[in-house]
Amino acid sequence: MSEVVRSTLVKLQAIIALIGLAAITPLLILVALLGRLIAKICCCSAPKSIAGEVAVVTGAGHGLGRAISLELARKGCHIAVVDINVSGAEDTVKQIQDIYKVRAKAYKANVTNYDDLVELNSKVVEDLGPVTVLVNNAGVMMHRNMFNPDPVDVQLMINVNLSSHFWTKLVFLPKMKELRKGFIVTISSLAGVFPLPYSATYSTTKSGALTHMRALRMELALENQKDIHVTTVLPSFLRTNTDVTQLTHTIGFGDLYPLLTGEEVAQRIVTGMVRGEAEISLPRMAAILYRLILIFPAEWQDRLILLFSRNKFKKLREEHS
Ligand SMILES: NC(=O)c1ccc[n+]([C@@H]2O[C@H](COP(=O)([O-])OP(=O)(O)OC[C@H]3O[C@@H](n4cnc5c(N)ncnc54)[C@H](O)[C@@H]3O)[C@@H](O)[C@H]2O)c1
Ligand SMILES: *[C@@H]1O[C@H](CO)[C@@H](O)[C@H](O)[C@H]1NC(C)=O
Ligand SMILES: *[C@@H]1O[C@H](CO)[C@@H](O)[C@H](O)[C@H]1NC(C)=O
Ligand SMILES: *[C@@H]1O[C@H](CO)[C@@H](O)[C@H](O)[C@H]1NC(C)=O
Repeated sequence: MSEVVRSTLVKLQAIIALIGLAAITPLLILVALLGRLIAKICCCSAPKSIAGEVAVVTGAGHGLGRAISLELARKGCHIAVVDINVSGAEDTVKQIQDIYKVRAKAYKANVTNYDDLVELNSKVVEDLGPVTVLVNNAGVMMHRNMFNPDPVDVQLMINVNLSSHFWTKLVFLPKMKELRKGFIVTISSLAGVFPLPYSATYSTTKSGALTHMRALRMELALENQKDIHVTTVLPSFLRTNTDVTQLTHTIGFGDLYPLLTGEEVAQRIVTGMVRGEAEISLPRMAAILYRLILIFPAEWQDRLILLFSRNKFKKLREEHS
């Protein structure tokens, strides 16, 4: 068979598969909805107990990381509170110990630094035990120079918000595989699926994190590690970070949807995590919106996002130039 005929046949096969998939899509949607409904009614996906497990939470000295640490402690986890800001981390430890009886300890580590993480792991294992819960939360926003970002800032954002997940995976996953259990939670953002203009670095790191976790889930499935759960979180804007609240105020996002509190997000994350949910969008309806928008051609998707933000970003850009 000639190469031309062969590739024509392969293309034909792909087209037929696509038509087949499109034809059964309504059925698949129905099954997905029914599955959700049944799970809701009879609680099929029983949440796992995480009491006594050891959790590493990065960027836990402030904001969402602190809220997640408190929520995991409430469920009985021992917490390694990791941050580059030691005083922030110590504050979190104090808040945990004021309420819960679990062990908690502050650790200074820079998540962009592989050697820091290797050292962190050995300290945590010695102090608290082997790590079976990893929360990739540490992140930097740095929107102070939105329209003309400094290359150093761009690289740092990529290092903290994207590359660091590869280093934490390298350091913490082997033990989870050996024990054949664990939870990995990665904080992405709705910006990972709805990229924002002049926030290319942020949006890119967040969609990169989302894709990283999807690939990891497939690898774990292929390796039969069904008790290691990977959860990606896509929250809308939070109230935790003053730079963010300022930005959302400027672009008028608060009129579209109220900003989320760290506590409500942390609660939803931990509930979803112990059930082994793959992706958590906050608010919930964003999950539907992001699937719907993908049906449209790329130009339309861009226009839809700009529909709400065009004038605000134009004005903001004029102010800054
Ligand atoms: N704020 C939002 O609106 C928003 C929206 C969606 C997603 N998120 C994500 O949620 C996560 C938490 O956001 P937040 O608002 O709580 O942030 P935050 O700025 O309040 O806290 C981040 C913490 O990470 C620490 N950190 C920064 N760089 C680090 C490094 N190299 N090593 C170790 N620790 C480091 C900081 O010291 C700080 O304590 C981030 O990943 C962020 O991208 C935030
Ligand atoms: C570190 O954390 C403390 C306590 O939460 C906070 O007051 C301080 O501003 C933080 N420092 C930096 C550099 O973020
Ligand atoms: C973390 O490490 C990176 C690269 O090693 C460095 O650029 C950054 O300044 C460090 N952050 C802090 C707060 O030390
Ligand atoms: C980096 O991650 C943090 C927390 O996960 C988030 O608040 C911040 O907006 C992110 N910034 C970029 C540039 O991705």
